Amino acid sequence: MDYGILVNKDNPLPRAHIPSNLVETDSIYKDGIKLNIKVKESFDKLKEEAQKKGYYIDIESGYRDYDYQEKIYNKLVEEKGFSYAITRVAEPGKSEHQTALALDFCIYRGEKCYIENEIEEFEETKWVHNVASQFGFILRYPEGKEDITKYSYEPWHLRYVGDIANYLYQHNLTLEEYYEEKNKN
Ligand code: DAL
Ligand code: ZN
Repeated sequence: MDYGILVNKDNPLPRAHIPSNLVETDSIYKDGIKLNIKVKESFDKLKEEAQKKGYYIDIESGYRDYDYQEKIYNKLVEEKGFSYAITRVAEPGKSEHQTALALDFCIYRGEKCYIENEIEEFEETKWVHNVASQFGFILRYPEGKEDITKYSYEPWHLRYVGDIANYLYQHNLTLEEYYEEKNKN
Protein backbone atom coordinates (compact mmCIF):
# COMPACT_ATOMS: atom_id res chain seq x y z
CA MET A 1 0.00 0.00 0.00
CA ASP A 2 1.36 3.38 -1.04
CA TYR A 3 0.38 5.64 1.84
CA GLY A 4 2.08 8.55 0.10
CA ILE A 5 -0.14 8.48 -2.99
CA LEU A 6 -0.78 11.93 -4.44
CA VAL A 7 -4.39 12.58 -5.41
CA ASN A 8 -5.33 16.09 -6.41
CA LYS A 9 -6.76 18.11 -9.31
CA ASP A 10 -3.87 17.03 -11.55
CA ASN A 11 -3.67 13.42 -10.34
CA PRO A 12 -7.13 11.87 -10.39
CA LEU A 13 -8.21 8.32 -9.63
CA PRO A 14 -10.31 6.26 -12.03
CA ARG A 15 -14.02 6.01 -11.32
CA ALA A 16 -13.65 2.29 -10.60
CA HIS A 17 -10.86 2.70 -8.05
CA ILE A 18 -11.95 1.01 -4.83
CA PRO A 19 -9.21 0.76 -2.19
CA SER A 20 -8.39 -2.52 -0.50
CA ASN A 21 -8.22 -3.08 3.27
CA LEU A 22 -11.34 -1.08 4.02
CA VAL A 23 -12.73 -1.44 7.52
CA GLU A 24 -15.57 0.15 9.41
CA THR A 25 -14.52 2.81 11.90
CA ASP A 26 -15.88 3.27 15.42
CA SER A 27 -17.39 6.64 14.60
CA ILE A 28 -20.24 7.56 16.90
CA TYR A 29 -20.93 10.67 14.86
CA LYS A 30 -22.08 8.62 11.88
CA ASP A 31 -22.57 4.90 11.25
CA GLY A 32 -20.88 3.08 8.41
CA ILE A 33 -17.82 5.30 7.93
CA LYS A 34 -14.98 3.25 6.46
CA LEU A 35 -11.22 3.81 6.23
CA ASN A 36 -8.11 1.88 5.34
CA ILE A 37 -7.35 -0.39 8.31
CA LYS A 38 -4.00 1.26 9.09
CA VAL A 39 -5.61 4.70 9.00
CA LYS A 40 -8.41 3.58 11.30
CA GLU A 41 -5.90 2.14 13.78
CA SER A 42 -3.76 5.27 13.66
CA PHE A 43 -6.75 7.51 14.22
CA ASP A 44 -7.80 5.35 17.17
CA LYS A 45 -4.39 5.95 18.73
CA LEU A 46 -4.68 9.69 18.13
CA LYS A 47 -8.16 9.63 19.66
CA GLU A 48 -6.85 7.80 22.74
CA GLU A 49 -4.07 10.32 23.19
CA ALA A 50 -6.61 13.14 22.83
CA GLN A 51 -8.75 11.63 25.56
CA LYS A 52 -5.83 11.81 27.97
CA LYS A 53 -5.98 15.59 27.45
CA GLY A 54 -9.75 15.63 27.93
CA TYR A 55 -10.32 16.14 24.21
CA TYR A 56 -12.92 14.07 22.38
CA ILE A 57 -12.48 13.67 18.64
CA ASP A 58 -14.44 11.57 16.18
CA ILE A 59 -14.69 10.93 12.44
CA GLU A 60 -17.23 12.87 10.43
CA SER A 61 -16.22 11.57 7.00
CA GLY A 62 -13.85 8.88 5.75
CA TYR A 63 -13.82 6.83 2.56
CA ARG A 64 -16.06 8.25 -0.14
CA ASP A 65 -16.50 6.45 -3.43
CA TYR A 66 -16.58 8.23 -6.77
CA ASP A 67 -20.37 8.37 -6.98
CA TYR A 68 -20.78 9.78 -3.48
CA GLN A 69 -18.13 12.41 -4.14
CA GLU A 70 -19.98 13.33 -7.33
CA LYS A 71 -23.17 13.85 -5.31
CA ILE A 72 -21.61 16.15 -2.75
CA TYR A 73 -19.71 18.07 -5.41
CA ASN A 74 -22.82 18.61 -7.54
CA LYS A 75 -24.84 19.61 -4.49
CA LEU A 76 -22.37 22.28 -3.46
CA VAL A 77 -22.09 23.63 -7.01
CA GLU A 78 -25.87 23.86 -7.13
CA GLU A 79 -26.11 25.57 -3.76
CA LYS A 80 -23.12 27.91 -3.86
CA GLY A 81 -21.91 28.07 -7.44
CA PHE A 82 -18.87 26.68 -9.21
CA SER A 83 -16.23 29.15 -8.04
CA TYR A 84 -17.15 28.57 -4.38
CA ALA A 85 -17.37 24.80 -4.71
CA ILE A 86 -14.19 24.18 -6.68
CA THR A 87 -11.90 25.27 -3.81
CA ARG A 88 -13.90 23.36 -1.19
CA VAL A 89 -15.00 20.01 -2.53
CA ALA A 90 -13.04 17.89 -4.95
CA GLU A 91 -14.59 16.89 -8.23
CA PRO A 92 -15.29 13.14 -8.41
CA GLY A 93 -12.10 11.17 -8.95
CA LYS A 94 -9.99 13.99 -7.51
CA SER A 95 -10.75 13.51 -3.83
CA GLU A 96 -8.34 11.94 -1.36
CA HIS A 97 -11.39 10.55 0.37
CA GLN A 98 -11.60 8.01 -2.48
CA THR A 99 -8.25 6.56 -1.32
CA ALA A 100 -9.61 5.78 2.19
CA LEU A 101 -6.49 7.49 3.56
CA ALA A 102 -8.20 10.80 4.37
CA LEU A 103 -10.67 11.69 7.09
CA ASP A 104 -12.50 14.69 8.44
CA PHE A 105 -12.48 14.86 12.21
CA CYS A 106 -14.99 16.54 14.49
CA ILE A 107 -14.70 17.59 18.13
CA TYR A 108 -17.17 16.83 20.87
CA ARG A 109 -18.03 19.46 23.39
CA GLY A 110 -20.87 17.91 25.32
CA GLU A 111 -23.19 15.98 23.03
CA LYS A 112 -22.43 17.96 19.90
CA CYS A 113 -19.57 17.10 17.60
CA TYR A 114 -18.41 20.35 16.03
CA ILE A 115 -17.38 20.11 12.39
CA GLU A 116 -15.49 21.91 9.65
CA ASN A 117 -15.10 25.67 10.16
CA GLU A 118 -16.70 25.48 13.62
CA ILE A 119 -13.50 23.92 14.99
CA GLU A 120 -11.05 26.40 13.50
CA GLU A 121 -10.35 28.23 16.77
CA PHE A 122 -10.70 25.26 19.15
CA GLU A 123 -7.69 24.39 21.35
CA GLU A 124 -8.38 20.73 20.52
CA THR A 125 -7.88 21.50 16.83
CA LYS A 126 -4.52 23.15 17.46
CA TRP A 127 -3.47 20.18 19.53
CA VAL A 128 -4.47 17.73 16.78
CA HIS A 129 -2.52 19.75 14.19
CA ASN A 130 0.57 19.69 16.39
CA VAL A 131 0.60 15.97 17.17
CA ALA A 132 -1.00 14.42 14.05
CA SER A 133 2.34 13.68 12.37
CA GLN A 134 3.32 11.43 15.29
CA PHE A 135 0.44 9.23 14.18
CA GLY A 136 1.26 9.37 10.45
CA PHE A 137 -1.14 12.17 9.55
CA ILE A 138 -0.67 15.57 7.95
CA LEU A 139 -3.02 18.52 7.76
CA ARG A 140 -3.55 18.30 4.04
CA TYR A 141 -5.00 21.74 3.24
CA PRO A 142 -3.19 24.17 5.52
CA GLU A 143 -3.66 27.90 5.82
CA GLY A 144 -1.29 29.83 3.57
CA LYS A 145 -0.80 27.02 1.07
CA GLU A 146 -4.04 27.49 -0.84
CA ASP A 147 -2.19 28.39 -4.05
CA ILE A 148 -0.41 25.04 -3.93
CA THR A 149 -3.16 22.71 -2.76
CA LYS A 150 -5.87 24.59 -4.72
CA TYR A 151 -8.20 24.28 -1.75
CA SER A 152 -9.32 26.58 1.03
CA TYR A 153 -7.93 25.99 4.50
CA GLU A 154 -9.50 22.84 5.97
CA PRO A 155 -8.59 22.55 9.65
CA TRP A 156 -10.59 19.30 9.82
CA HIS A 157 -9.10 17.25 6.95
CA LEU A 158 -6.33 14.84 7.91
CA ARG A 159 -4.46 12.71 5.44
CA TYR A 160 -2.60 9.58 6.46
CA VAL A 161 0.82 9.44 4.77
CA GLY A 162 2.63 7.10 7.17
CA ASP A 163 6.37 7.49 7.80
CA ILE A 164 6.85 10.70 5.81
CA ALA A 165 4.41 12.61 8.02
CA ASN A 166 7.10 13.82 10.44
CA TYR A 167 9.31 15.08 7.61
CA LEU A 168 6.41 16.95 6.02
CA TYR A 169 5.39 18.46 9.34
CA GLN A 170 8.89 19.53 10.33
CA HIS A 171 9.57 21.12 6.96
CA ASN A 172 6.09 22.60 6.64
CA LEU A 173 5.53 20.93 3.28
CA THR A 174 2.35 20.01 1.50
CA LEU A 175 2.32 16.69 -0.34
CA GLU A 176 2.62 18.61 -3.62
CA GLU A 177 5.76 20.42 -2.40
CA TYR A 178 7.23 17.18 -1.10
CA TYR A 179 7.00 15.50 -4.50
CA GLU A 180 8.21 18.59 -6.31
CA GLU A 181 11.28 18.65 -4.06
CA LYS A 182 11.81 14.91 -4.53
CA ASN A 183 11.59 15.13 -8.32
CA LYS A 184 14.25 17.85 -8.37
CA ASN A 185 16.76 15.67 -6.52
N1 DAL B 1 -12.83 18.71 0.71
C1 DAL B 1 -11.82 17.93 0.05
C2 DAL B 1 -10.94 18.78 -0.79
C3 DAL B 1 -12.42 16.81 -0.77
O1 DAL B 1 -13.57 16.96 -1.19
O2 DAL B 1 -11.75 15.83 -1.01
ZN1 ZN C 1 -11.94 15.86 3.89
